[in-house]
Amino acid sequence: MTQLTIYPDDQPEQGQKITNYSDIASALANIGVLLEKWETGQALAKEASSEEVMQAYDEAIKKLNEKYNFKTIDVISLNPDHPDIAVMRQKFLAEHTHADFEVRFFVEGSGIFYLHVDGKVYATLCEKGDLISVPANTTHWFDMGTAPYLKCIRFFTTDEGWVGNFTGSEIARNFPDFDTLTA
Ligand SMILES: [Fe+2]
Repeated sequence: MTQLTIYPDDQPEQGQKITNYSDIASALANIGVLLEKWETGQALAKEASSEEVMQAYDEAIKKLNEKYNFKTIDVISLNPDHPDIAVMRQKFLAEHTHADFEVRFFVEGSGIFYLHVDGKVYATLCEKGDLISVPANTTHWFDMGTAPYLKCIRFFTTDEGWVGNFTGSEIARNFPDFDTLTA
């Protein structure tokens, strides 16, 4: 289930958990983050290609594209047997920002966005059907755990796709990771 835990950024043991969807959405709206539940269809096969995912969500993609006029759209698809999991996980776990706003549509699986804003950390567990939009320059990191499963459609308003500006902070190490928060 989608959930949000809000922590003071220096007290990882003082998390306050919110599970009501509209309460989660309004807490996130306060920091400029959009969270919406979108319709999803039948489960896609684990090995579904990017093209198959894009085809299955053609209408949602069109709707978002009309609104934001994206330049690049891709699919990130992770399974526990993906060969680069450890490297990818470390990259996403490092605190970073993007010059572009970040839009993700979870069509399968789950992952946690940790948004670090105004002295707080907002750990947002996103699941199938969640559409999240993180404003440009929002400090954050992401975790999908040691045995990830997710398929996300990613939308970019630049040609470059995913470009992270790393802050060099190791704050992520202090906070409960995906495995801990979903145990
Ligand atoms: Fe990011």
